[in-house]
Amino acid sequence: MVDRVNSFGVDLAVRLGRLQLPNPIMVASGTFGYAREMEGLVALWRLGAILPKTITPRPRAGNAPWRSIETPAGMLNSIGLDNDGIEAFITHHLPYLSSLAVPIVVSIAGHDYGEFVSMAARLDGLSGVAAIELNISCPNVSGGVDFGTDPAMCRRVVSGVRAACGLPILAKLTPNVTDIARVAQAAAEGGADAISAVNTCLGLAVDWRRRKPLLGNGMGGLSGPAIKPIALRAVYQIARAIKVPVVGIGGIATLDDVMEFLVAGASAVQIGTANFYNPTVTMAILDQLPAAIAELGAVRLADVVGTLEMPPPNPESPTPNP
Ligand SMILES: Cc1cc2nc3c(=O)[nH]c(=O)nc-3n(C[C@H](O)[C@H](O)[C@H](O)COP(=O)(O)O)c2cc1C
Repeated sequence: MVDRVNSFGVDLAVRLGRLQLPNPIMVASGTFGYAREMEGLVALWRLGAILPKTITPRPRAGNAPWRSIETPAGMLNSIGLDNDGIEAFITHHLPYLSSLAVPIVVSIAGHDYGEFVSMAARLDGLSGVAAIELNISCPNVSGGVDFGTDPAMCRRVVSGVRAACGLPILAKLTPNVTDIARVAQAAAEGGADAISAVNTCLGLAVDWRRRKPLLGNGMGGLSGPAIKPIALRAVYQIARAIKVPVVGIGGIATLDDVMEFLVAGASAVQIGTANFYNPTVTMAILDQLPAAIAELGAVRLADVVGTLEMPPPNPESPTPNP
């Protein structure tokens, strides 16, 4: 049975616009392969949704090594959207993914507006695709974040995809902006069913003896527990600004992390980096989640979402600057 209703009588079901999930625990794109790699470790059918690695219109070889390194409380990666392209995905990965009876949210990245729209149209109506996530936030490809940093471009690409396909749309945003709520607002106006926040934070690791960056491509994306406070802040700001549901991503590794994101305003979460060092993390969290929701006196997951009580603004310091 899917993890929806349990011995605590807590209903874990989630609605993200037109996308219905049995529970809020998803795995983040790029951190779970195409799921087959994880089938011996994880009861895949228990997941709220699976997001396979982002696909692009054509195959991409990705960036030069090193592509990932460990950092304090996290990792820095510069994979560069290494993938075999949309047609290989449809032929080789989608049949397996759609056999899992788990919502599959296909992550897509185009180089320009037309590529996003044509990829969405290609996926529309394919069996096994529950929704698409627009990766408009990858820091590791040239021009990869334009749609996620410019509200007007974000609105245009989301509405173009919306017009081209009937699938629910998640817009995945970058934290590397001054005002993420403004970009989220634009995605909502474009017709996004949900906002996924956040992708990795742009970072740099240096080998000072060689006077070179450690990553082959120079800079990369920081992920893992190190970015959790940034992601929580982004989720809170977005959830307060718009009505469209938010999917929290960034440094989630424990039940407490999930609960923090829900209370801060996330309707669901994605777990990324933690899958690498604790592949069964999602199962442990699913086991513990109903009791934590019951502890807050709620019978539905939705009842705890966005219940964070912030202090009233200090008139001496009306902006959120510390
Ligand atoms: C090795 C690696 C590869 C990633 N590849 C993708 C990707 O293909 N598409 C995408 O949208 N996000 C990608 N991400 C970002 C994650 O999905 C997630 O947004 C980010 O890592 C923050 O979550 P976390 O701290 O739980 O990892 C990648 C992250 C890592 C660490």
